[in-house]
Amino acid sequence: MKAIYIKEYGNAQQLIEGELPRPAINDQQVLIKVKAAAINPVDWMVREGLLQEDTGHELPLVLGWDAAGVISELGKDVTGFKLGDEVFVYSPISDQGSYAQYLAVDANLVAHKPTSLDLTTSAAVPLAATTAYQALVEGGKLQAGQTVLIHNAAGGVGSFAVQIAKSLGAHVIGTASQAKRDFVMALGCDEFIDYRNEDFSQQLMNVDMVLAAVGGEGLLEASLNVIKPKGALISLLDDMDPSLAQAKGIHFQRWWVTPNAQDLNSISKLIDEGNIRVEVDSIFPMSQIKKAHDLSQSQRAQGKIILEIPA
Ligand SMILES: NC(=O)c1ccc[n+]([C@@H]2O[C@H](COP(=O)([O-])OP(=O)(O)OC[C@H]3O[C@@H](n4cnc5c(N)ncnc54)[C@H](OP(=O)(O)O)[C@@H]3O)[C@@H](O)[C@H]2O)c1
Repeated sequence: MKAIYIKEYGNAQQLIEGELPRPAINDQQVLIKVKAAAINPVDWMVREGLLQEDTGHELPLVLGWDAAGVISELGKDVTGFKLGDEVFVYSPISDQGSYAQYLAVDANLVAHKPTSLDLTTSAAVPLAATTAYQALVEGGKLQAGQTVLIHNAAGGVGSFAVQIAKSLGAHVIGTASQAKRDFVMALGCDEFIDYRNEDFSQQLMNVDMVLAAVGGEGLLEASLNVIKPKGALISLLDDMDPSLAQAKGIHFQRWWVTPNAQDLNSISKLIDEGNIRVEVDSIFPMSQIKKAHDLSQSQRAQGKIILEIPA
């Protein structure tokens, strides 16, 4: 099968477009004929070798852990799917990835794709939307009527987080650069902060939850100053001494997304009911994988980056 993989850790030059054997499935797995994958920041972090200690990958490694495609083989214990079903999945980062024509993955992590989206767009959803959903609902326990500040509202995770928070009935404040103001407000934000020219910690107080969907020197510590006691600070990248939050009665958590088909079903429902639009920055063919990684690594993308896999 055609695949994009690495044989050595390093920069985008290490990305190889070539042929690898089609993966075999076990009794609990399905084989997905992949139509599209998405690029997430974790892809280039793994490529650079930054997560070697956490993931225990063996090389060669196919990158990418978001996929949408069609079920082409079923393990004998699999129920709930049939050949030809159109599905999407965020697959475990410890496994071989989805920049390939076929992905073998545990069936219990797979969900039917949203009916209102095509397969290519569906690939943009799983990892980023699941992160946003879990961070807001499980991590921050965000409730209707509460106020949430989302740092990096224009990114892959942030663009889902704004819309999910609105669908939960929250008042949403999003940060991005001024050029992305219209984009962020169109997602449904109630207030916008230009993080390059404004200091959120001087403008806000009594926020119920902050989602730090971006890192940065002092960002978490400054966020503590705008959260009310018993509020929550959920960080997707940087870590912090938890005693700083405890001293203010704030729940702090460095959140790690977990693959989960039930969450994908909840997200699909939000999409099909019109509560979430999928914002796509760009779609690249496999031959332009280096360009796609460079764009993700620039951390300037507006919404999601998709990789189309040839039939
Ligand atoms: N812990 C987890 O399980 C988990 C899961 C998924 C993602 N993540 C992490 O979450 C982060 C966001 O992921 P993503 O996919 O959303 O990234 P992304 O799509 O690459 O984010 C790009 C966006 O970030 C904005 N941005 C950059 N610096 C910013 C800042 N200081 N304040 C506000 N916006 C800023 C850029 O807007 P401007 O051009 O306007 O600056 C751009 O629109 C990454 O660090 C990723 O590794 C963690």
